[in-house]
Amino acid sequence: AKMVNLRRLLRVSNRSFLAFIFFFSLSTSCLYFIYVAPGIANTYFFMVQAQGMMLRDNVRTIGHMIRLYTIKNSTLNGTDYPDGSNSSEYIAQPTTYLPENFTYAQNLPCPEKLPSMKGRIDVNMTEITMEEIHQRFCKSLDIQIAGHWKPKDCKPHWKVAVLIPFRNRHEHLPILFRHLIPMLQRQRLQFAIYVIEQTGAQPFNRAMLFNVGFKEAMKDLDWDCLIFHDVDHIPENDRNYYGCGQMPRHFAAKLDKYMYILPYSEFFGGVSGLTVEQFQKINGFPNAFWGWGGEDDDLWNRVHYAGLNVTRPEGDLGKYKSIPHHHRGEVQFLGRYKLLRYSKERQHLDGLNNLNYTPEITLSSLYKNITVNLTPELAPVGDY
Ligand SMILES: *[C@@H]1O[C@H](CO)[C@@H](O)[C@H](O)[C@H]1NC(C)=O
Ligand SMILES: *[C@@H]1O[C@H](CO)[C@@H](O)[C@H](O)[C@H]1NC(C)=O
Ligand SMILES: *[C@@H]1O[C@H](CO)[C@@H](O)[C@H](O)[C@H]1NC(C)=O
Ligand SMILES: *[C@@H]1O[C@H](CO)[C@@H](O)[C@H](O)[C@H]1NC(C)=O
Ligand SMILES: *[C@@H]1O[C@H](CO)[C@@H](O)[C@H](O)[C@H]1NC(C)=O
Ligand SMILES: *[C@@H]1O[C@H](CO)[C@@H](O)[C@H](O)[C@H]1NC(C)=O
Ligand SMILES: *[C@@H]1O[C@H](CO)[C@@H](O)[C@H](O)[C@H]1NC(C)=O
Repeated sequence: AKMVNLRRLLRVSNRSFLAFIFFFSLSTSCLYFIYVAPGIANTYFFMVQAQGMMLRDNVRTIGHMIRLYTIKNSTLNGTDYPDGSNSSEYIAQPTTYLPENFTYAQNLPCPEKLPSMKGRIDVNMTEITMEEIHQRFCKSLDIQIAGHWKPKDCKPHWKVAVLIPFRNRHEHLPILFRHLIPMLQRQRLQFAIYVIEQTGAQPFNRAMLFNVGFKEAMKDLDWDCLIFHDVDHIPENDRNYYGCGQMPRHFAAKLDKYMYILPYSEFFGGVSGLTVEQFQKINGFPNAFWGWGGEDDDLWNRVHYAGLNVTRPEGDLGKYKSIPHHHRGEVQFLGRYKLLRYSKERQHLDGLNNLNYTPEITLSSLYKNITVNLTPELAPVGDY
């Protein structure tokens, strides 16, 4: 009866009233998708986009295969990083992994293509406790406190700080470690692991956590290579070398959640690596991205404004499995498109140079735990 009264009051016809109800519920369900289930909505939009990309990818794959057949014996040699000057192209580059009987020398740098790097990793997503990982690695694999390790039979080519932004994903961390630590050892890199955890009520700020992690890591050791690693991305190939290069690297080129297709050519999310010099040159990550999405695109812009290009591993090397979670409990950052328009203006105002924070640091057997409460006031940005 109330409905009827309301309708009379508004003097609308039956039909327009129904139309109103229909559009109202449609718009609320749209809002529901954007705010409550952004993961689902994004996956859906991506699937539609992916249909078109798969077609293009197949055409490219066929072209690639024809080229492989014409270039003699290059299939046996595998592929590697291009030099960075034409990163978007798939070029077959002959590379050779060293033979099993290769002998190391303590005074010589470790090579990048080691016989211990076998290729595909069997990913085991079964949940495991940190204690089990600790027992398995710290004794037999000689990992020092806070996840420090370095090869003994040769001089490490890169000193790598692995930075992992973190909140509410305690079951993911050991799953990542079980694959990542043996892989880094097989690649004979010197490394340590930093988990940067955000507390407080603000939306997750992945980029600011990386900036904090960078500053803290540099207090420990003169690292020369930084790996920015999401906790839910598990590498599927140990020939995806986690060292740095002349150009910033995007390791996570093919994610299973995106059907192993690069979602768009400027995609720079998941796992990436920059030298300390490159990272300082671009003033680090932006601090202004609260909630997920956009900060990786901004980093891409920064890299290119600095005259650098992004390189990606070839073929299957850049494959990753993601631990499913659909951005559980994290909100999407809707203001990102506006910020991205001013990437260039903001680059020198927002980043490593305007960041203040007070960390709480604890040492764990496999990582250093850097806990910070982040708020926008910690990174004030001037007018631009
Ligand atoms: C290609 O490889 C085969 C064996 O792997 C070898 O016999 C042949 O000489 C190679 N051809 C060229 C052009 O290198
Ligand atoms: C691998 O590539 C090298 C050139 O870099 C070539 O000399 C060698 O024959 C190739 N090996 C195989 C097995 O095709
Ligand atoms: C980056 O790539 C572009 C186009 O592929 C090229 O013109 C440019 O020279 C590259 N920059 C560097 C520093 O290699
Ligand atoms: C890409 O690399 C190929 C060979 O490696 C070279 O011939 C070509 O000029 C490069 N393209 C650009 C745009 O640098
Ligand atoms: C290593 O093994 C290869 C065959 O796999 C052999 O040709 C080579 O002579 C060996 N090198 C040494 C130093 O033993
Ligand atoms: C995966 O890990 C679990 C727990 O460590 C283990 O019980 C299981 O056998 C593993 N599965 C495979 C296929 O290795
Ligand atoms: C990091 O340390 C804080 C206490 O400082 C603790 O509450 C949190 O659980 C730790 N996080 C991880 C991933 O170990």
